[in-house]
Amino acid sequence: MKNNIAQQRIWIVGASQGIGLELVKIWLKQGHQVLASARQAQQSSALTELKQQYGEQLQCLNVDVCDAQDCAIQAQRAWAAFTGLDMWFYNVGAYQPMTSEEWDWPAFVQMNQSNYLGAVALMLPLQKLFKAQGHGRWIWNASLAAYFGLPYGGGYSAPKAALVNLAEALQPELAVQNIDLQIINHGFVRTRLTEKNEFAMPGLLEPIEAAQQIAHALDRSTAFEIRFPWRLRIVLSLFRWIPYSWSLALTRKMLRS
Ligand SMILES: NC(=O)c1ccc[n+]([C@@H]2O[C@H](COP(=O)([O-])OP(=O)(O)OC[C@H]3O[C@@H](n4cnc5c(N)ncnc54)[C@H](OP(=O)(O)O)[C@@H]3O)[C@@H](O)[C@H]2O)c1
Repeated sequence: MKNNIAQQRIWIVGASQGIGLELVKIWLKQGHQVLASARQAQQSSALTELKQQYGEQLQCLNVDVCDAQDCAIQAQRAWAAFTGLDMWFYNVGAYQPMTSEEWDWPAFVQMNQSNYLGAVALMLPLQKLFKAQGHGRWIWNASLAAYFGLPYGGGYSAPKAALVNLAEALQPELAVQNIDLQIINHGFVRTRLTEKNEFAMPGLLEPIEAAQQIAHALDRSTAFEIRFPWRLRIVLSLFRWIPYSWSLALTRKMLRS
């Protein structure tokens, strides 16, 4: 049932607000069993409201992906919640733009843990469970920012690029175990992350629009990469294809005066 996620048991990590919360609403409406996680998922008023509406179809589980020990424990609980999982969606992200004057070690660590290592901490226990189950689907929400490092955003984009690179490396081995791994590289969405941006964001989407595009793409495609919007993707792809002397001359123009 690769192209059909009807009646799935889904664990989404990073579900209390923004794109993740909108995905939870879509999947509940579609009839899936959803386990929603964030650091304070059980205390989230938005998720509590949904739970009142959907009852047992929605479960909430607190997990802090910056804590590897917590990830190991909560992964087992997540597996038990619906007696197995069909899909694990890693949606956690942290973003702190910084100039060289603002470089801050804790911010780099938080972005590395949220955007990359948290997925690793969860996949270690989950892989054994999915492999024994014999099927499953992993979706990692990366970013179009992973395509090319842009001024002030490296603390965010570098671990996202690591996540994509890891997914490329793991995909063949997991496919043999009947675990489909897909990444999502999308553009700007109006959430608390992009609130920090002081520049105009081309192709900016509302969280519900991004969630609809993601859910729709997941329903119809098992392609390794899901990506949108196409205009921003083409522009950022160009940065990768042209010589560094050109791309870096262009990104230099993005520096604040
Ligand atoms: N917004 C954009 O323009 C954009 C663009 C490209 C890609 N993305 C990616 O899309 C995903 C969702 O982003 P968003 O904009 O919707 O962000 P958001 O509104 O900040 O939501 C992030 C979610 O992750 C959870 N979270 C954060 N730190 C966590 C931790 N240590 N442990 C567990 N959960 C944690 C948050 O809940 P708590 O804080 O309550 O724990 C929240 O539910 C991220 O991976 C982001 O990088 C976003």
